[in-house]
Formats: sequence, C-alpha cells, structure tokens
Amino acid sequence: MSQYLPTLLDRIGQTCRAGRDPEFRSLASQIDRVPREKPEKPALTCSTSELCLQEAIEGIPADHLLRDAVAHAASFSPWEEASRGVPEFFPGGYAYAMLIDENPPADNDPVRMGLLLQRGNIAYPGHAHDAEEFYFILSGEAHWRIDAQELTARPGDLIHHASCAVHAMQTGSAPLLALWVWRGNLAGRFWYESAPDVDCPRS
Ligand SMILES: [Fe+2]
Repeated sequence: MSQYLPTLLDRIGQTCRAGRDPEFRSLASQIDRVPREKPEKPALTCSTSELCLQEAIEGIPADHLLRDAVAHAASFSPWEEASRGVPEFFPGGYAYAMLIDENPPADNDPVRMGLLLQRGNIAYPGHAHDAEEFYFILSGEAHWRIDAQELTARPGDLIHHASCAVHAMQTGSAPLLALWVWRGNLAGRFWYESAPDVDCPRS
C-alpha cells in the first residue's frame, strides 16, 4: 500500500486555500471532507504513461506545493489510455488516472479526482461536461481555450471550468501533467464541441 491519498488531499486543500480564485477556495472544504482512508486503486500503466510520465514528473517545478505528493501518487496510479470511447472525435494521446470516484456519493457534495497526462504536441479537442471542473497544472505548457477565452497554462496555474464550458488544450513539446477535480453533476453528460448531441463514455 503506497498511501499517497492522505498527503495528496491535504496538499490539494492547501493549494485551494492559497489561491485567490473564489471557486478554488470554495473547493477546499469539500476536499477536506473526502475520507482519507479510502482504498487506493491498483497501479496500472498504459502506452502514454510508459512513454512520458517520468519526463512529466521530472518537469514539476521544485517549489510546486503539489510536487512530492503528485510525484508519489502518479507512480502508483491506475493509468488508462483514453479517448472517451470515440476515437473519431479524438484519436488519443492522453491518459488519465481516477484516484477518487464518489459514485454513489458518500456525502451531499461528492467530488471525483484524478490525474491527466497528455503527450507533447497533442490537441485535446474542444469538449464540455455538466460537471464543474478544476485543473491544477503540474508540468508542461499548453495553449488553453475556455469558451472565448484563450491562455497559456503553466505549472502552478489553477484553471476553473464552469459547468458546460467548452475547453480545449494543445500541448507544446513537453507532456502536460495536471491534477483535476470534478464536482456537481458527476453523472451528467460529456460531449465534444464537434458533436454536441453525442454523450460520450467516461474514457
Ligand atoms: Fe474537462
């Protein structure tokens, strides 16, 4: 048992409180309520994690508050190659690891939490979902679009997607490693901008 969750959850809560974004500050108390003794899922690797996870971990800045906790968790995470089941919309190039999945909810404000690893020079096309989403950027850089807003995401950035906001990420040459949290309608729809009527499966 690696027991990465208690420290990781504590660091996420600290990060939320240290930021100025009121949405992240409101997330902190929900993170505090996630049971620390939750069983951790067996570690898995996939082609993307085997290709670039180590590079992504080494790219986390030394002063990043989440660095050690994420480096530990990422090494024991259940990585899965993913394209949301619809390679015609997105042929892949990213992997995700689900670390917390409250389904059915353990309390009135469930959260889902995990890691994302996106290869360098990959475009994750515009997509949206009913759940609200929080990104904590660990390493790499990406051009990020949220509805009509565009920005460059860098390590240390905190990015919030409101429910149903369309978002897209184009990585630079380095892989992108990020931690994400969903809250709200966890069982809601996920769709691509190019096919808004198709409700896609989780992976
Ligand atoms: Fe998303």
